[in-house]
Amino acid sequence: MTDTDSLTDERPHRTAAEERARDERGTDTARGEDASDPTVGFDDAPSPPRDDGLPLLGHTVAWFRDGLALGDRLQRRGDVVEYDAVGRQFVAVFDPELVEEVLVTRGDEFQKGEFETEFASLLAPNGLVTVEDDEWRRQRRLLQPAFTPGRIEQFAETMVDDAAALADDWADGSVVPLREALSSYSLSVLARTLLAIDLDAERGAVVREAAEAIAEVTTGVSSLAPEWLPTPATRRYDRAMAGLDDLVAALIAERRETTGEHDDLLATLLDATYPDGSTMDAETVRDQLVTFLFAGHETSSTALTYACWLLAGHPEVRERLDAELTTVLGDRDPTVADLSALQYTEQVVEETLRLYPPVFTLYRQPVADTTLGGYATSADTTIQLATYHIQRDGRWWDAPEEFRPERFDDDDPDRPDYAAFPFGGGPRHCIGMRFATMELKLALTTLARRVRFERVEPIDPSPRVVLDPGETPMRVWRRESA
Ligand code: HEM
Repeated sequence: MTDTDSLTDERPHRTAAEERARDERGTDTARGEDASDPTVGFDDAPSPPRDDGLPLLGHTVAWFRDGLALGDRLQRRGDVVEYDAVGRQFVAVFDPELVEEVLVTRGDEFQKGEFETEFASLLAPNGLVTVEDDEWRRQRRLLQPAFTPGRIEQFAETMVDDAAALADDWADGSVVPLREALSSYSLSVLARTLLAIDLDAERGAVVREAAEAIAEVTTGVSSLAPEWLPTPATRRYDRAMAGLDDLVAALIAERRETTGEHDDLLATLLDATYPDGSTMDAETVRDQLVTFLFAGHETSSTALTYACWLLAGHPEVRERLDAELTTVLGDRDPTVADLSALQYTEQVVEETLRLYPPVFTLYRQPVADTTLGGYATSADTTIQLATYHIQRDGRWWDAPEEFRPERFDDDDPDRPDYAAFPFGGGPRHCIGMRFATMELKLALTTLARRVRFERVEPIDPSPRVVLDPGETPMRVWRRESA
């Protein structure tokens, strides 16, 4: 057996005293004095508490070195904290009620904003994740029908079959590169279901290379280099984007050449006619395809990686999951009809997404100077809704750093709705939420019926484009011999 002490899943840098301080801080002291008075406007409201970093650089170094630790530090300052990093002014928000304000109740006062747009322009400037206002509304309306329960449920069989094939390939006792294996799995499922295309290994590698190049160019120090200065990361990015563009062009050309009716997302994109009679231009089709290839695979595969990792470290959870598999499935694989009965599996997924939300933070920008939590928030600040940190806050979660799927056995009526929001919220919540939840449940049960996972080295989650667990090598034991 491995030394599991070095393989725990709690992050070590937060001490018990810090935990207590966070618990005791409470919400009241953390808001602006004028929070209760909605008539106090931008001009009269106080500025948020500010956490200064280094002169000129602000918290840029900490941002790149350990973004999660920077979040811990800011969270200790209060629920709304201003700071500078990467040449921008941010306001970090750690209060679920304020998250709900920004995403839902006052959603039309905030946009994705410059920071998100800058990032998205590296990949798909006209894709659904990025566009705003009327353009977003008409795109979302057009694409939403591809995600109805009836449509999504047709994909269950592919999700199960591919997971079964993956696990059946693993030799007993071997060490598998889990994150990479699950990344290939989720990309292939996404392509075969929503887009009805087969991405062979070579084409899949083009997408994954592009994902890696973007992560490097945005989260490495080279992102600080001036745009005119070519660095190894920017050169890799240019190459990867050219490869991705060729691939997308080929996929579209191949589809246009095929005869017969298609009823999938790619067909929706290619044949779309908006109510005013216009169609989607080639550039937007390209961006949309790229958006879905990216938004829909790294997120699900990292969540699945964390779920397997967590199960490996928590035998009592694994035991309860196995008991559910025996009761609900007996000796067969799951189907869509089993989904509602796989209640504990769903709690495992929910708890995984609480501890390790792949989209670890959301960004917004006010459309005009405003107040948030009683603090003046100017139109040029970037608001950072701190998903990861809110989901581990002791005010809303008992033993917040622990993996306890049973915490969801019952609803806690005192917990704010936005104490967990792994899929965002409001009109711009994740369009793929139902797809992802179904895939996670089906893949997890299909894998768990076949293998047990054993940790072989610690993980070190780092905030890149998604909350990246690293390679996550895991030893697999076939269940007959486990
Ligand atoms: C565990 C898996 C997933 C997680 C945690 C996740 C998380 C999120 C979050 C937090 C947002 C909101 C972003 C914001 O408000 O700024 C979002 C939006 C989005 N997601 Fe997901 N996602 C997942 C899977 C998927 C899948 C499978 C697809 C596609 C098949 C997808 C496509 C999208 C798209 C297109 C948007 C933008 C929606 C809009 O702005 O209208 N996601 N996702």
